[in-house]
Amino acid sequence: MTTVFSGIQPSGTLTLGNYLGALQHFVGMQEENDCFFCIVDQHAITVPQDKAELRRNIKSLAALYLATGIDPKKSTLFIQSEVPAHAQLAWIMQCVSYIGELERMTQFKDKSAGKTGVSSALLTYPPLMAADILLYNTDIVPVGEDQKQHLELTRNLAERFNQQYNDIFTVPEVQIPKVGARIMSLQDPTKKMSKSDENQKGFISMLDDEKTIIKKIKSAVTDSENEVRFDRENKPGVSNLMSILSLSTGSSLDSIEQDYNGRGYGEFKQEVAEAVAALLNPIRERHEELMQSEELNEILDQGAEQAQRASHKTLKKAERAVGLGRKR
Ligand code: TYM
Repeated sequence: MTTVFSGIQPSGTLTLGNYLGALQHFVGMQEENDCFFCIVDQHAITVPQDKAELRRNIKSLAALYLATGIDPKKSTLFIQSEVPAHAQLAWIMQCVSYIGELERMTQFKDKSAGKTGVSSALLTYPPLMAADILLYNTDIVPVGEDQKQHLELTRNLAERFNQQYNDIFTVPEVQIPKVGARIMSLQDPTKKMSKSDENQKGFISMLDDEKTIIKKIKSAVTDSENEVRFDRENKPGVSNLMSILSLSTGSSLDSIEQDYNGRGYGEFKQEVAEAVAALLNPIRERHEELMQSEELNEILDQGAEQAQRASHKTLKKAERAVGLGRKR
């Protein structure tokens, strides 16, 4: 069976970008594969977090995974810090990483630029991500486009380790969706949609209510042409809304272009807004129910146990290969 692993940081409410670029694709993979979905709280603390808020976000992310359709009977859903093997293998992966290659990571450059007191963990974030993936002998990692560079590094580190020590790690393949791999900001469609955007109108949170969703999409930046056509370079705003509509309804970009031939942006935006609201409304309601229930804790306890069992063997093999501890 093919093994799938992916992770999401519990740093604020997820955006429509997280959903369309990643989460939405996880659900369909559960039937045919052995799936591990992780709440990567240790990644989140590479930048300062408020303790109470982090706890709330961890719980809310677990509820969101389930509300979108992750089924604990089919997949393992767990919190990274509850499975110590992640931090243990991360240390070994740091030992095969070079400072230069970590400094070249775009995410590190973006998050550290112009800042003082940047944590060393922000630099060593990718070896932890490699450990997350390699522990489970992962074959496929579904992610949005912004994680591609980290995945390339993971593959390099796995190959380097296998060559230097022993052939232990499966070298994973990255899976990036054809449409929606990079959902853009509604206010600046040349920038990625991000929960850390200072302009609240730039992103749709997965927990925004219907009124807010409609308002934000109606005020999305487009262009002066009034023609619904996919052209990422010259019409980034409209192309972004087309991708969002395509993923929300299942219609292809071509059929959207045909449907809106001769109709203006007003009508188009109204329909995009309604489609997104129809997609997120049931998720928001289910999320609310799950947050009130006891079910969540049981699922996460069980997930941590399963992940612990699944990762133990690889960790021990890696430790043995580098010569850690005693020979037994
Ligand atoms: P994170 O938490 O920033 O994002 C979670 C997932 O959402 C995708 N994504 C997007 N997709 C399309 N458009 C957007 N605007 C958009 N914004 C975010 C991301 O690509 C990602 O798939 N380092 C990872 C978390 C991680 C991980 C892992 C992922 C830690 N360990 C192991 C995979 C495997 C991150 O910060 O994702």
